[in-house]
Formats: sequence, C-alpha cells, structure tokens
Amino acid sequence: MKETHIVITGATGGIGAALAIEYAAPGVTLFLHGRRHNVLSNLADVCRIAGAAVETKAFDIRDHEQLHSWLDEISLRFELDIVFANAGVNINIGPQSKGETWNEIQGLFDINLRAVLATVQAVLPAMRARGKGQIVLMSSLAAYRGLPMTPSYSASKAAIKAYGEGLRDWLAPEGVKVNVVMPGYVESKMCREMPGPKPFLMQPEQAAKLIRRKVAKNRPRISFPFPLNLGCWLLSVIHPSLSSFILRRMKYGA
Ligand SMILES: NC(=O)c1ccc[n+]([C@@H]2O[C@H](COP(=O)([O-])OP(=O)(O)OC[C@H]3O[C@@H](n4cnc5c(N)ncnc54)[C@H](OP(=O)(O)O)[C@@H]3O)[C@@H](O)[C@H]2O)c1
Repeated sequence: MKETHIVITGATGGIGAALAIEYAAPGVTLFLHGRRHNVLSNLADVCRIAGAAVETKAFDIRDHEQLHSWLDEISLRFELDIVFANAGVNINIGPQSKGETWNEIQGLFDINLRAVLATVQAVLPAMRARGKGQIVLMSSLAAYRGLPMTPSYSASKAAIKAYGEGLRDWLAPEGVKVNVVMPGYVESKMCREMPGPKPFLMQPEQAAKLIRRKVAKNRPRISFPFPLNLGCWLLSVIHPSLSSFILRRMKYGA
C-alpha cells in the first residue's frame, strides 16, 4: 500500500481536527500543527487508534521562520502528498461597529495570509522537484464579496482565493496540484465568534468528508454548501449597491 504523508496546520480547530480524523488510517502519516499541546496530543491519540502514524508540532504560526524550518525538516524526511494550509483566525468590527484595531489586523494577516504564503514557499521546492504533491488552501465564501462586519477577514480570504487560483494554473503543468477551499458556516470556535446569521451551518465532520472527496478529484474550487455558495457568488457579480442592500436586509450590515 502506498504511504501517504499529510500536513495540516490549525489541526486543533474544528475543521482541521475533523480533517485529521477523516484522513487517519493505516499507511497515512499525519503532521499536525496547532498551538494547544493538550488538544494536539488528544487528537494524535484518536488518529493513532484509527491506524495513522502521527507527529505533532505546537507553535504560533505567526513565527514564520519556525513554520518554514518545521516544513523544511519534514520535506527532507518525507515526500509530502497533501499540505492543508488551514490555520486561520477571524476578527470583526465589534457589536457597536467600533472597528478593528491595527494589532488585530496585523495578527490576522500574519496568520491568514503570510503564514499561508510561508507554508507554500516551504513545501513547494520539494514538490516541484519531484513533480508531485497537492496544496490545499483554506479560503472562505467571504472571499467572494467583502462583508461589512469582517472587512479584514474577507480581504485575507479573497487574497488566498486569488493566490490559489494563480498557483494552480502556474503549477499544473509541473504536476503539483492546488485547490482552494471556500467553506460557508462550519461549527467551530471561529464560527461561533463570528457575528451575523449562520444559515446552512454544517458540522466539521461533514465538511471534512466533502473536502476530502473533492481534494481527491482535484477540484479547483471546493466551495460549499451549494445554496450559500450560489448566493455569495451572486453577491460578487451584481452591482455593489444592490449587494450592499441585500447584505443589510439579511442582517449582515454593519
Ligand atoms: N468555521 C467556519 O465557518 C469557516 C468558514 C470559512 C472558512 N473557514 C476557515 O477554515 C479554517 C479553519 O477554521 P476553523 O473553523 O476550524 O476555526 P477554529 O476552530 O477556530 O480553528 C482555528 C485553527 O487555527 C489555529 N490557529 C489560529 N491562530 C493561530 C496561531 N497564531 N498560531 C498557530 N495556530 C493558530 C488554531 O490553533 P489553536 O486553537 O491551537 O490556537 C486552530 O487550530 C480557517 O482558515 C478559517 O478561516 C472557516
């Protein structure tokens, strides 16, 4: 049986943990990252029971040098098959529309964008050299149209979407696959803390199954659930003043 090596950043969160459990099986080695040691260690136990080999690493992903050296070190030892750049945070303008602080904005971009770029930079040389490997970038349906309550988050996820689309077409002829995942609402700490209604809320296990299926088919854009995906996409193509009106009516206004 072919050995499979999978990296997941942000594996201690709702979607990341569900992905780890979804892929955990004999013949699979998981490299799981997060900040919380105890959560990582419990997750590793669950994945080992399912037959996977597991290595964990706990550090703040804003330390891009540490991120780079961790991924360099794994890439030297193993041929990575799938790398999920999944760790992420959300910030919002607050209940009284006070606004996001500069510290929050910098922290968000260090995690949601710069750490993703650093992840790709670290794993890409080995993947390109052997003409094989798959990079899965976690964007969001919020990437389609900026949301008034989460402008920086929307911007960070729009950047990931554009980056992933570009990477995919650049690297496809070399045999390296890239997929952009755009979830709607998936039950997690981040999702609970997000302001606004949460239609078509999914469980992380459902989301992980769907992501795994579509990653296996190498779909360019893995956006779900269907009704919310369609709605968010439409918001991005209609006139901005009409999408502002709709967002306000649907209680996503500031
Ligand atoms: N849930 C949704 O509705 C939804 C929708 C669209 C997109 N997404 C995207 O899906 C991804 C996973 O989100 P989630 O819902 O699973 O959120 P979550 O449960 O809050 O998990 C976030 C993960 O990111 C890690 N993380 C955050 N800041 C970090 C830092 N400074 N250093 C290291 N790790 C850090 C967390 O680690 P620790 O907890 O150990 O600190 C955790 O593992 C994110 O990129 C998010 O933007 C989620």
